[in-house]
Amino acid sequence: ESVLEIALRHDIPLEHNCGGNCACTTCHVVVKGGMENLSEMEDEEDDMLDKAKGLTLTSRLGCQTHVYGDVIVEIPKK
Ligand code: FES
Repeated sequence: ESVLEIALRHDIPLEHNCGGNCACTTCHVVVKGGMENLSEMEDEEDDMLDKAKGLTLTSRLGCQTHVYGDVIVEIPKK
């Protein structure tokens, strides 16, 4: 499952204006822990992420990031 799917399943409001198609940056999250339990970043995500407001070194797009273990992510203020 992606960070976005997990968030929505738990009623955590993570915006996803493009419907999880890697075509916006509204699902931007900042990874605070467990980076090793996330899928590798694809070029498409990397390119789109460059447009995210408040980009950090551990930023990811929630819809493109698959989770394989415990992780801590923060949803930045819009
Ligand atoms: Fe648009 Fe993730 S929901 S890029």
